[in-house]
Amino acid sequence: MKYSGAFEVVRADHAGVQVRNQMAEIFADGFSQWLTYFSKDRDVTAKAFAHMFVLDQFYVALAGDRVAAFGACTDCQSFSLELQSAPLRRHLGWFKGSMAALILKREFQKPFVDPPAETGSVEFIGTALSFRGQGAASAVIKHMLVHLPYRNYLIEEVADTNVPAIRLYEKLGFTEYKRKSLSPRQARISGINHMLSLRLEKA
Ligand SMILES: CC(C)(COP(=O)(O)OP(=O)(O)OC[C@H]1O[C@@H](n2cnc3c(N)ncnc32)[C@H](O)[C@@H]1OP(=O)(O)O)[C@@H](O)C(=O)NCCC(=O)NCCS
Repeated sequence: MKYSGAFEVVRADHAGVQVRNQMAEIFADGFSQWLTYFSKDRDVTAKAFAHMFVLDQFYVALAGDRVAAFGACTDCQSFSLELQSAPLRRHLGWFKGSMAALILKREFQKPFVDPPAETGSVEFIGTALSFRGQGAASAVIKHMLVHLPYRNYLIEEVADTNVPAIRLYEKLGFTEYKRKSLSPRQARISGINHMLSLRLEKA
């Protein structure tokens, strides 16, 4: 059933309700493609990764006390996620937990080589399954564009197969400025040929 109210978008550490576990469930559902090696159990995945959200970098769209969508926007220098080995090992086991810490830190905690000035990095946009297609992700990103002090916004590494995300970003005014090819082996395994980077300059 569609949510009939307006989403309230707030910074995740100001939400007034416990958002971390709900964010983790949305993450486990939305980013499962990258996580199935570590666990195929969505609830285990959610518990394993719940610790990693740096809440003052995230914004949540709330429908009452439910998190409908979330996304981070950093200054291109801070990280929005901080992966810790101990909780990952506790939930995924020693080997996979250690692998998750090693591999995903490289993927998710990647510094910008030359951080651009006056630029926000939009990251980890996700909408709960039951709120998809109702404007929740749009509300989160529009809030960032209105309330954050950046002139430019970047979204790095969107899979070319992720049509919902690309359409969402393009609808909000982002345009592609770079694409990176995956190796033929990576492309065969993932079905992804390119990772796109998009940007938007605020009017
Ligand atoms: C991508 C995602 C965040 C979209 O969230 P959402 O809250 O459903 O998006 P919105 O309702 O705000 O949609 C805004 C626009 O995006 C596009 N869009 C959203 N879902 C779409 C879909 N399934 N297919 C095609 N276009 C879609 C449409 O243009 C839509 O506008 P419209 O409703 O007027 O047609 C959501 O599908 C998701 O969580 N996916 C998994 C996680 C993910 O891939 N995140 C992005 C990583 S780069």
